[in-house]
Amino acid sequence: MKLADIKVIQLPKNEDERGNLSYIEGGKHIPFKIKRTYWIYDIPGGEKRGGHAYKTLNEFIVALSGSFDIVLDDGKQKKVFSLTRSYYGIFVPKMIWRSLENFSTNSLCLILASDVYKENDYIMEYKNFQMMVK
Ligand code: TYD
Repeated sequence: MKLADIKVIQLPKNEDERGNLSYIEGGKHIPFKIKRTYWIYDIPGGEKRGGHAYKTLNEFIVALSGSFDIVLDDGKQKKVFSLTRSYYGIFVPKMIWRSLENFSTNSLCLILASDVYKENDYIMEYKNFQMMVK
């Protein structure tokens, strides 16, 4: 996978005087079926999350509230995406090293995943990741 495989996706936004409503359907708005949802919240100032890659898992990351940065690395290049709106998300395919940082106060990070949690799908050491993408 390369940085070019990462996609910023604008989600539907239903706007009226009662407020906004956005939604995601797996396989339609994002390029995989959703098998798991998790969210990261109550993040102390200055903390970083992630810092790993997945062998097979695809993810879609949304800043439901607040903002944060996603640092993505394909082993050759790095790119930082800032998520600041809840109607945008980032598709992060397998075999991309990803870290989440610079969380604003009370930010809420929603992650949709293509598979259930599997500890052995994680690549935890950056050196191993680099060897695998060579
Ligand atoms: P981890 O993915 O390592 O979070 P981060 O990269 O943001 O630090 O997950 C932290 C812990 O939570 C780890 O012990 C595994 C557990 N966990 C689950 O049990 N199920 C899940 O779906 C996720 C994402 C994590």
